[in-house]
Amino acid sequence: MMKNVFFLIAAMGAAGMMLSCNADKTPQLGKASIDEVVRAMTLEEKVQLLIGTGMAGLSDDGPVVGVTESIVPGAAGTTRPIPRLGIPAIVLADGPAGLRIAPVREGDSQTYYCTAFPVATLLASAWNTEVAENVGKAVGKEVLEYGVDVLLAPGMNIHRNPLCGRNFEYYSEDPLISGKIAAAVVRGVQSNGVGTSIKHFAANNQETNRMGNDVRISQRALREIYLKGFEIAVKEAQPWTVMSSYNYINGTMTSESRELLTDILRGEWGFKGTVMTDWTGGKYPPAQVHAGNDLLMPGSPRQYEAIMAATADGSLSVEDIDLNVKRILELIIASPRFRGYKFSNRPDLKAHAEISRQSATEGMILLKNERALPLPESAKKVAAFGITSYDFISGGTGSGDVNEAYTVSLREGLINAGYQLNDELAALYENYINAENEKLRPDAGNPFAAFMPRTRPAEMPLSAAVLKKMAEETDVALLTIGRTSGEFLDRKIPDDFDMSDNERRLIREVCNVFHAAGKKVVVILNIGGVIETASWKNLPDAILLAWQAGQEGGNAVADILKGAVNPSGKLTMTFPIRYMDAASSANFPYDYQFDTRNAASLFSSQYENKKESVRNVDYTEYAEDVFVGYRDFDSSGKSVSYPFGHGLSYTEFAYENAAASVKNDGYTFSFTVKNTGNAAGKEVAQLYIAAPGKSMKKPVKELKAFVKTKLLQPGESQTIQLTITKEDLASYDEGSGQWMVESGDYVGLIGSSSENIKQRINFQY
Ligand code: BGC
Repeated sequence: MMKNVFFLIAAMGAAGMMLSCNADKTPQLGKASIDEVVRAMTLEEKVQLLIGTGMAGLSDDGPVVGVTESIVPGAAGTTRPIPRLGIPAIVLADGPAGLRIAPVREGDSQTYYCTAFPVATLLASAWNTEVAENVGKAVGKEVLEYGVDVLLAPGMNIHRNPLCGRNFEYYSEDPLISGKIAAAVVRGVQSNGVGTSIKHFAANNQETNRMGNDVRISQRALREIYLKGFEIAVKEAQPWTVMSSYNYINGTMTSESRELLTDILRGEWGFKGTVMTDWTGGKYPPAQVHAGNDLLMPGSPRQYEAIMAATADGSLSVEDIDLNVKRILELIIASPRFRGYKFSNRPDLKAHAEISRQSATEGMILLKNERALPLPESAKKVAAFGITSYDFISGGTGSGDVNEAYTVSLREGLINAGYQLNDELAALYENYINAENEKLRPDAGNPFAAFMPRTRPAEMPLSAAVLKKMAEETDVALLTIGRTSGEFLDRKIPDDFDMSDNERRLIREVCNVFHAAGKKVVVILNIGGVIETASWKNLPDAILLAWQAGQEGGNAVADILKGAVNPSGKLTMTFPIRYMDAASSANFPYDYQFDTRNAASLFSSQYENKKESVRNVDYTEYAEDVFVGYRDFDSSGKSVSYPFGHGLSYTEFAYENAAASVKNDGYTFSFTVKNTGNAAGKEVAQLYIAAPGKSMKKPVKELKAFVKTKLLQPGESQTIQLTITKEDLASYDEGSGQWMVESGDYVGLIGSSSENIKQRINFQY
């Protein structure tokens, strides 16, 4: 019944349009002012505009799977058109690793593939805002040329815990790097005249019960860690839209929080754009409207009815509705569709593949290197171990997955770079993988399997004879370890964080046999999130953290192995020794078992009607407060496997001549980075600040600025200046609800990682 009313109203809108053809006086969007258009709208039309057009396959509160077929197949949704007033529908489609639309259309021989760029974590690992902006430009071009108006990206939630299933879509455990990279991506995408949606606002740090979880958090941690990145992106890049998240914060759903969406986002930060929900997010639509959550996506008749009812009984004001309607109209006016842009459906995928490859090499991280890389000219014959060497992973799953035309596997990348892969070993692996995948096919019986990380075969045991033969016949061993993850599910300690027994055995045996033959072993990590490295990292000669590098991943890894590109990525999160070492692990659903076949439990709060609340599922205490990632490891003195900011190069850098100057509330730190090694390379220089921490407990140090140098030739130097303001020193004081700067002795710490500090400068505030 509800649905019928809804569609009847939609039909009336269309009928209205026909009448208006003769009614010249009807204000038209773009010709009349927005105020005039709003005045001409019926209440029904306004409420229709507040909610999206729905989604094929999405019943009222059902799962978000399926597509909005009407305008751009495979897009996540559209706004509702009101032709009578000249209001078109605009199209919203996912990111963040590239544009997500359907690659083929029925009865159409053209294809609509998009470029799969590296996952967000890799992009951030480049610590290069120019590279991020360039990737943004290319993604935005595809958005524009495929007729999409708003890209639902970048994702910028904090990596609070290593097991969050969507960390690969996000940038870092640190808000500064998250905010700066997001701002760069937003600038790049929006330079095409299309919009972005920074998401998921805010504190959406676990997938488990993501629609029902209440984040219990201090105002200080919220402001300093979980909102800070969004604040930076809003102030520096003005994204066209912000996507509110599914979760609650301290008892209020983010999409229903006026404090978050109106007071903080707009009032304090000056956000000028539109807020939309995450898909089906929020429970009580009138509260969402009042909060300033302008657009409810993908929209349902239930929401329409609820808003109409609240308007009728006076609990929701028409002023609230009008304000949101205006902001949606402003978004529509800015869109390429409204401007009548003639999109080509033919973006330059070739040029974008190059950008994808280049950005991938820029963000890969050399974790360890004992004279193994770059591979010497003499190393031509390669033994590639590990199923992931033959089943390379380009990205994560869920809405962040891209439909690309091809992916370059590791094997293809190595062959393209002139290496000879041992065929016998390749055949063994390929037969094994095919047979195992056949056994794992029950996955296919699950309707949601396409949106979930695929179950991958266990690592293949190898006989001593095969290992010995490989060590004899080849010059070097590559051993790839892979992990997939995606939306809806958090990762697990035994399957995802820890190494399996088979993996451990493989690393140990390959290292033993190759080392006995005087040959090197290089481990490649093709992963989307942090894994355990401490127990095995001493075995191989080198470890390359390749992340999930998009469609050119195999070529990008080969570029680094060969030395065509000198690695310059650094960790944007800590690699702890044990999972439980992370402070947030004390409050994370690491042992919770989701029933992945029960769709309802994945797409709504499965605990809605139960009496008792389950810790870490219904609510999560952010008890570690501001001590997230390195802020905790540093302060508590716990050892880590690889620290935040770590990453090696094929060359060495010296830091010299550090000095600081104070001007108008700003502190400028200048220093020189010199390439003292033999290869050209780039360095990421990091500025941390240690605060007095007397009146307020502060982390030992916090990242306040960073820069990536240009490509420095051997012997070449670059003088760097990093400026921070008084505001950068401030902490959020809960008592007064103000940002406060403590007076006293501060130290500026300039380093090549959070642990490798090269220069210190004392200063006073
Ligand atoms: C995801 C969002 C995404 C939306 C539309 C949701 O399930 O959380 O990140 O943009 O779907 O596909």
